Amino acid sequence: TALNTVIVGLAGATLATASFNALAAQTVSVGHTTSDNSHYSVGVDAFKKTLEKLSDGEFVVEEYPSGALGGERAMIEGLQIGTIDTVITSTGPLGNFVPETYVLDLPFLFANYDQARCVLDGPVGQDLLDKIGENNLVGLAWTENGFRHLTNNVRPVKTPEDAAGLKIRTMENKMHMAAFEEMGVRPTPMAFPELFTALQQGTVDGQENPISVILTSNLWEVQDYLSLTGHVYSPAVMLASPVLWDGLSEEEKGWFKQAAKAGAEATRAEVSRLETEGVEALKEKGVEVVENIDKSQFQQAVEPSYSVYTDQYGSKMLDRIRNSE
Ligand code: PAF
Repeated sequence: TALNTVIVGLAGATLATASFNALAAQTVSVGHTTSDNSHYSVGVDAFKKTLEKLSDGEFVVEEYPSGALGGERAMIEGLQIGTIDTVITSTGPLGNFVPETYVLDLPFLFANYDQARCVLDGPVGQDLLDKIGENNLVGLAWTENGFRHLTNNVRPVKTPEDAAGLKIRTMENKMHMAAFEEMGVRPTPMAFPELFTALQQGTVDGQENPISVILTSNLWEVQDYLSLTGHVYSPAVMLASPVLWDGLSEEEKGWFKQAAKAGAEATRAEVSRLETEGVEALKEKGVEVVENIDKSQFQQAVEPSYSVYTDQYGSKMLDRIRNSE
């Protein structure tokens, strides 16, 4: 009948529209090196949900966790040449591309999460995102890795003297390496995807990372001792490829920034949750946790590493951070 023809015609039109949208959808890759139950992954979920909703399905987000697209340094290079669309990375390797961000990697710079988040969400954070933008990268939003704590297989570390002589994997970051050298530790820079095997095979005695990473990357399987040193705040940032970015309209860029912000909020909430719950979980898994660390001893031990930064970059940015509310 005529009615049937109309109904079939309408259904066909709807299907055609749906498949047109599916065809038109642009896939956006997000790479990161932690597992698919980590704080970064929680952030990707929020990013995905927000971007897909704001764009009404125009963009479809695909997550590549666990270093599937390489370590953090390799992924940043991937952004620059356009083989990856977006990445969540710690600032560990970022200073190699944007030296202005090194300031954030200084040990004991931030006293607590509130202070760090406030600085990164304020003018200092914005200026650093702008600097990122001057180096063939796009800084979408500051997100978070968390305060780093020391783990090892040799002995419980309570003081810097206990840490001396240990071979510790560090990030590929000269500020971190300088600080550990001051502590008498033997720093071994290495990309994160190589770490588990290096710990397992005893190539290094230990490593340092936030609780979320120690827990969700199963480092507890190959580490006996955890010391809650909180020796450095590890910021993370969501970056986009300029190749992707240059093809977006202003409205689309706004959606990406809003989605990255939503991701950062979700990640920060997860980091806060795991900072306490994660320590309990690690104890249950048999890790011996040294909780009452006299941080001032560690702070004193690494203090000379500040001159490695100021000798090269001056103290202007450092003072701005220290004077921030
Ligand atoms: O140790 C690192 O390299 C980083 O903290 C990690 C785990 C890749 C997260 O950014």
